[in-house]
Amino acid sequence: MYLTNAEERILSGQNGEVMERMFRLLVRLGEIYGADKMIPVSSAQVAGVSYKSIGDPGIEFLEDYAGKDAKVRIVTFLNPSGMDIEDWQKLNFPPGFAEKQLRIMNAFKKMGIVVSATCTPYLAGNLPRFREHIAWSESSAISFSNSVIGARTNREGGPSALAAALTGVTPNYGLHLDENRKPQMVIEVDANLEDSADFGAVGYVVGKQVKNRIPYFRGIKDADTDHLKALGAAMAASGAVALYHMEGMTPEAHLMETKGLETLTVADKDVEETFSKLSTGKQADIVILGCPHSSLREIMTVARKLEGKKLKKPLWICTSRMVKEAANRMGFTEMIEAAGGKVVADTCMVVSPIEDMGYKTTAVNSGKAANYLPGFCKQSVIFGRLDNILAQVTE
Ligand code: F3S
Repeated sequence: MYLTNAEERILSGQNGEVMERMFRLLVRLGEIYGADKMIPVSSAQVAGVSYKSIGDPGIEFLEDYAGKDAKVRIVTFLNPSGMDIEDWQKLNFPPGFAEKQLRIMNAFKKMGIVVSATCTPYLAGNLPRFREHIAWSESSAISFSNSVIGARTNREGGPSALAAALTGVTPNYGLHLDENRKPQMVIEVDANLEDSADFGAVGYVVGKQVKNRIPYFRGIKDADTDHLKALGAAMAASGAVALYHMEGMTPEAHLMETKGLETLTVADKDVEETFSKLSTGKQADIVILGCPHSSLREIMTVARKLEGKKLKKPLWICTSRMVKEAANRMGFTEMIEAAGGKVVADTCMVVSPIEDMGYKTTAVNSGKAANYLPGFCKQSVIFGRLDNILAQVTE
């Protein structure tokens, strides 16, 4: 792998211990995957933020780096943390957990990382352009940036994204290269998809079949960016899919050849079967929306649906801090709170400790959350379209 003189100097420790360790990690990755060189990246998104995921060893690691004056070189955002950093008390997050989570956020802040903890950085002030190289690590954000925006990122782990943030480069392999972005399977969608949950159900089914390959979708007549983020998130969760193309919708689709590829058809019955397969619960203790983190449009939709209603159980709608600020200004937060719900920032249903907060059955409209909640949070799940999910907790 070719390294510049400046990169050789980093590797020999001339820029300090942290830079040497981080750069060595990138060189190792590059060697494993056959990269020819390092390429600059314009932004990073670092996963491994919740105390629930990284525990005490993670705090020690981050505080060690922050204490050694490690500073990021490019715009770097965080994946969701384990709690709402401002409203954790009101939401009844355990104080012991909160104390650890705040230490994690302080360490990241010291490194110059924007302590906006979200899986939709592209909705919160970190929007790459078509073909821009980036190093992101949350699977739905990777899917959205590669597929819908046409930016280029591999599936970074927390450490490799942090290494890219600190050094400003990533090894040139995988999805950074044209030849690795071609579709490997065609998905004919013969189903009526209207709600984001429908797209999440399709994503779940397709991810299971495609597994780590690149699907090319045909037959989807209309989809907004919320639908596409729901589809990509579910596919990333069930099949580690980091890139998809969609005829007439995603920016690289028209450049792709699909002749001779294996075809899978998804029909209405697959969507309905997924709702029932992933629904293991009967009566929700809580409804949690916003996986991936909600857009302002999604918050507005929920706020309007809740007008004049009173919730009999808790409802959270998870989003980024930036989008929550916009929702506050538009009065949507107030409308949701008037019904008894909460707009929750910086965290989500999967990385927060909901299992320790008394919740056993969670209702969601997300294919990804429905897939992850049993394993990550010991939850029974109710998975369905927004109206059906809201009916669980409204009178
Ligand atoms: Fe985002 Fe959490 Fe879902 S990180 S994609 S809201 S599981």
